[in-house]
Amino acid sequence: MTKLHDQGLLKNSSYWHGEWHRSNTHFNITNPASGEVIAKVADASAADAEQAVAAAHAAFADWAARPAAERSQLLMRWQQLLLDHQDDLGLLLTLEQGKPLAEAKGEIAYGASYLQWFAEEAKRVYGDTIPAKAANQRIMVLKQPVGVVAAITPWNFPNAMIARKAAAALAAGCTFVVKPAQLTPLSALALAELAHRAGIPAGVFNVIAGTDAAAIGEVLTQDARVAKFSFTGSTNIGKQLAKQCAGTVKRVSLELGGNAPFIVFADADLDAAVDGLMASKFRNAGQTCVCTNRVLVQQSVIAAFTEKLQQAISKLKIGDGTRDNVDIGPLISEDACAKVDKLLQAALKQGAKLHCGGKRQSADSLFYLPTLLSDITAEMDITQQEIFGPVVALQSFSEEAEAIARANATEFGLAAYFYSRDIGRIWRVAEGLQYGMVGINEGLISNPAAPFGGVKQSGYGREGSKYGLADYLDTKYLCLGGLDR
Ligand code: SIN
Repeated sequence: MTKLHDQGLLKNSSYWHGEWHRSNTHFNITNPASGEVIAKVADASAADAEQAVAAAHAAFADWAARPAAERSQLLMRWQQLLLDHQDDLGLLLTLEQGKPLAEAKGEIAYGASYLQWFAEEAKRVYGDTIPAKAANQRIMVLKQPVGVVAAITPWNFPNAMIARKAAAALAAGCTFVVKPAQLTPLSALALAELAHRAGIPAGVFNVIAGTDAAAIGEVLTQDARVAKFSFTGSTNIGKQLAKQCAGTVKRVSLELGGNAPFIVFADADLDAAVDGLMASKFRNAGQTCVCTNRVLVQQSVIAAFTEKLQQAISKLKIGDGTRDNVDIGPLISEDACAKVDKLLQAALKQGAKLHCGGKRQSADSLFYLPTLLSDITAEMDITQQEIFGPVVALQSFSEEAEAIARANATEFGLAAYFYSRDIGRIWRVAEGLQYGMVGINEGLISNPAAPFGGVKQSGYGREGSKYGLADYLDTKYLCLGGLDR
């Protein structure tokens, strides 16, 4: 932490109504690379969350009434501050989350790109006029901000998942309260500090950092002043939170788990497919919702593909993310390591073949070696569950229709990827995959201009793009009559 150029970015308490709020109790933030405690953060309570909601509620009318151009300018200022402090924010993120510094700085730029996108989009919230049935009537449609938005965000993207929700909400004219993951609140608090410096008015952006996730979650999902709730995280918790929102009929967006297939057809450019898979699988050490989970390779090219892939994996450097040239940092926690290991051991018992990796770097560390498995079958747990770690699991297939059916044989539907050079196949497969996002000859598909989100039990709602803004807007129909009098 002493390496931060701007020590003012290291905040250790929650932020609402434009102020920092202390607490009598604190919780530790640990660097997953070293196990060292890097900060102590004031533990906000459910009562604090209620105050944050009250602040957001009080700020809403003024914020919503401001011209879009003014909201846009403030968002632009905020994004510029993120970019000005990219090095410090990246370091904070690596220290609390573990991802390599270059990737962490990339996440800051990614978060800032949502602020910029929605700052621009704020000025393009258009309504409609519709031809009316009667000559003396006119029909108009207004788009208005939904109100106070509450969000719960995950540890795997401590900056960008907040930035992309908050950017859309604030652009639309909503005010915002977020509870960041308890493991990674420092990036969220630094975002609040920069929102403050950018001049975002008191109560418009609020952060509640606390360990009592259930109690804080109850406030955010059940308080009637909250109009919309947005969650990124596991499917099980998402279902529970959505139920809690039903009591006050909130609008809900859920970005939940995935089980992304990555299909390599025999006609694909195999080198490009290896590059795409490496990017999709090993980003954040395999800890993203859109990470490849199942790799399906057409039988006739699986040997060649496996060899190329193993070569690429052998070049990955694993280590503390603050060191130079590291590609893979630690997993987030002991539980995360244990889960990856359990899936791997079960797969080996069920007949999978291990090509490399397959264990932690050392028994007491959270560094899991990049791993390649083949001879995977559809029945194995490693196929059916989200791995969330740096393990590639290869299975083979014969026919296109079989690949599509196996790719769709999951309750999840977030992201899918496939590689092919055949234009007819590209359309057939793209249309046949039951997923919210499909990368075709691309392993990295996230960007602010595109609608991010899933189908089936991967959730609903979209983030980024014009569709992401629409999720924060109500549609109001005005019927203007009596025009003949
Ligand atoms: C996620 O893992 O939830 C987000 C990944 C992304 O935005 O690319």
